[in-house]
Amino acid sequence: MTTKFFTMQDFQAAAAAIRQRTKLQPKVGLILGSGLNALADSVENATNIPYDEIPDFPVSTVQGHVGRLVLGTLEGQAVMVMQGRGHFYEGYSMGQIGFPIRVMQVLGVELLIVTNAAGGINRTYHAGDVMIIHDHINLLGMAGQNPLHGPNIAEFGPRFPSMNDAYDPELRRRALEIARQAGIPHHEGVYICLSGPSFETPADVRLLRIFGTDAVGMSTVPEVTVARHGGMRVLGLSGISNTLSGEAGSPPPDHEEVLEAGKLLVPRLETIIRGILTSVSF
Ligand code: HPA
Repeated sequence: MTTKFFTMQDFQAAAAAIRQRTKLQPKVGLILGSGLNALADSVENATNIPYDEIPDFPVSTVQGHVGRLVLGTLEGQAVMVMQGRGHFYEGYSMGQIGFPIRVMQVLGVELLIVTNAAGGINRTYHAGDVMIIHDHINLLGMAGQNPLHGPNIAEFGPRFPSMNDAYDPELRRRALEIARQAGIPHHEGVYICLSGPSFETPADVRLLRIFGTDAVGMSTVPEVTVARHGGMRVLGLSGISNTLSGEAGSPPPDHEEVLEAGKLLVPRLETIIRGILTSVSF
């Protein structure tokens, strides 16, 4: 695993490579999780840039992650969509996972909408439900894997950034209202990011429940930590792709199931994201 600490120059070089391809000045960043790629199909006047054409951008190796940026407009807003993301379990450092967020910040993005596929820990959750992330547990950060590890870049934010209300209360309120009005099965809950790639054991699931976790996944927390350090507003949406009972002998989740649930979740998430985009101004 690389231990390189990126500098402002690295972020600017990546931003310059993107600016060479489009004049769009994105205000909204959108990260699409496993099985949710199709959300980018609605972007108008799209410029597509494969991640491997942007210096230092982590390229996802996972099935269900296309691995390109889509820049264009959605509901009249200039958006920069990540169709797939790099994960810690692929061997990327936390700094690499946070890299695209810094590039967004250099490009002028002010709002990050982050989506993921997640396993339902809360017993009331069902596959296909949407969880509006209320807060997260940075378990990997507690264990020393924080994307802000290394020299602080003061142009982005302070050495010790607050993570209170990391998920913007006003955007959460609006997302809940949109979901309620559209009849989308939804919850507000706490997300935890584990390293993966192995799924949780039933005993892990019971432990996560004691922690106060509602949904578990393998992403989002590093990106949100970087986004908040840089002062972006954040909305987080988990698509519950499977549920985890924590009972010994219960059926294990599998990646195909995660991708299958994505088909149900894409229109639901799209409704919420479109609603949010119509309600924000910059
Ligand atoms: N566990 C961890 N990550 C996940 C899961 C899960 O059950 N489902 C989708 N991402």
